[in-house]
Formats: sequence, structure tokens, C-alpha cells
Amino acid sequence: MSNRLVCLCNLVDENEIISLLKRGATSTSDIQQLTRAGTSCGKCLPVIDDLVSEFKNKRPKDQQKKLDFGS
Ligand code: FES
Repeated sequence: MSNRLVCLCNLVDENEIISLLKRGATSTSDIQQLTRAGTSCGKCLPVIDDLVSEFKNKRPKDQQKKLDFGS
């Protein structure tokens, strides 16, 4: 798996962002606060937005929708 540098200004890579998303970050603003990515020139913000959207789309929709077969 590749690990590309997303934010050149603050040296934040894709793996770091994905790791934070897996641990509960839910928005670009969360990523900005936790890593400072996107807080300097802002050129990486579209890439961070894409990673957040991509992660949200891959996550299971709703844990409560699991089938309950009873006992
Ligand atoms: S490249 Fe991320 S803030 Fe400049």
C-alpha cells in the first residue's frame, strides 16, 4: 500500500490521516486539528476532503442494522 505525502507544509501523510479516521475522526476539520494538515497554504484540503469522504463511504452504514435472529 502506498503512503503518499498529503500535506507538504506540515508533513502529514495519507496513512496518518486514515489512521485518525479509523480512530474516530469524522471530518476535515478533525484532521486539521489533530495534525495541522491543511492549516498553512490549504492546497491539500481537497485531498483531505476526498480521504474523509472515501473513508465514510467505505464504513459500514449503521451498526444497528445488523440482523437479529433472536434466541
Ligand atoms: S500542503 Fe497542506 S497546508 Fe500546505
